[in-house]
Amino acid sequence: MRKKTVMDETVSGKRVLLRVDFNVPMNSNGEIEDDTRIRACLPTITYLVHQQARVILCSHLGRPRGMVDEHLRLGPVARRLSEIIQRPVKPLPEAIGPGAVLAVSAMQDGELVFLENLRFYPGEEANDPGFARELSLLADLFVNDAFGVSHRAHASISGIAEYLPCVAGLLMEKEIEQLGSLFEEPAHPFAAIMGGAKVEEKIEVLEHILPRVDLVIIGGGMAAAFLKDQGYDVGISAGVLDIAGLIGTIMQKSEAFGVRILLPEDLIISENLEFGATVRVEKAGQIPAGCRIVDIGPQTIMEFIKEIGECQTVVWNGPMGIFEIPQFSGGTTAVATVLATMNAKTIIGGGSTVEAVTQLGLAGRMTHVSTGGGATLRFLSGKTLPGIEVLADKE
Ligand code: 3PG
Repeated sequence: MRKKTVMDETVSGKRVLLRVDFNVPMNSNGEIEDDTRIRACLPTITYLVHQQARVILCSHLGRPRGMVDEHLRLGPVARRLSEIIQRPVKPLPEAIGPGAVLAVSAMQDGELVFLENLRFYPGEEANDPGFARELSLLADLFVNDAFGVSHRAHASISGIAEYLPCVAGLLMEKEIEQLGSLFEEPAHPFAAIMGGAKVEEKIEVLEHILPRVDLVIIGGGMAAAFLKDQGYDVGISAGVLDIAGLIGTIMQKSEAFGVRILLPEDLIISENLEFGATVRVEKAGQIPAGCRIVDIGPQTIMEFIKEIGECQTVVWNGPMGIFEIPQFSGGTTAVATVLATMNAKTIIGGGSTVEAVTQLGLAGRMTHVSTGGGATLRFLSGKTLPGIEVLADKE
């Protein structure tokens, strides 16, 4: 990787401001539902502690829009981290100001503190130089391990680079290397599997990735949009936007690059999205007006897993159906299962795809499961991410 990492710096005895993305799902009792993002940063955190750095963690949680929200304090997150690493992690009641400066000045080598939610301050999302400068006063070095939010030009992501040397953490390094490897001589056959919502953003990914892949497999909300573009009636399916021009461009480019695009031939459809809803299988061209597509059909599953199984590189973003409802999860489960058994590079990105793979207990069987949602899509679209842009280059 051409960016400097925490390994390229001397950190012993230094005050290190470590930006993490611990924007974890919380339930209504304020308990953490999934700590994957916390665990993903453990390599950087334990490295810094073993090197006897003074570790000042900072993160956002939720979207409090510049105001204090008692439900979005980072105390529970600091406690969970402390339990995992079996060391004290002191939550601070603020992120900047005299209290934070005092707490940091009392730190010993190898100790950890956790600043309060950065988004309690309007200056964070506004990328206010004054806020970035105040944060920078706490530290000697900035380490960004928050890949999941690196697409945001916020004060603790990009503005801070004006005031402190910035390097990548080990999770950030892994994300850049793994996602970047898809564009640097990937092994063929190479398939991109696209599903779920956020259709426009995924079309941008397709545009960028088309020259590299051999095959594109479309399911989920993406399938409804593509089928509609082919002239099929898709009933009241989600994902169908006024993007016909964009899909037309993808179809033309795929022909020019000799890339096959596989669309579902049969689908699971339903009139409603309730648990226990009545479902049936229909051919792609025969979806009645009041129904919606909820999953790919059995024939499509067989076809997709046969094609996927022959690939050497696969990137997957977006479920094949509404997998949260067990009856509609067959396609997503089948794709995840075949990927987990393959001897190939398998890269999974996007919040709901990662959730599905994790729920199925298959995350550990993939080459890489990205911690980013929007950030991963932006990276795969070949766009610049402000948080990566500002990291110091290797000499
Ligand atoms: C995420 O969960 O995708 C990141 O933490 C970014 O959060 P945001 O979309 O609220 O900026």
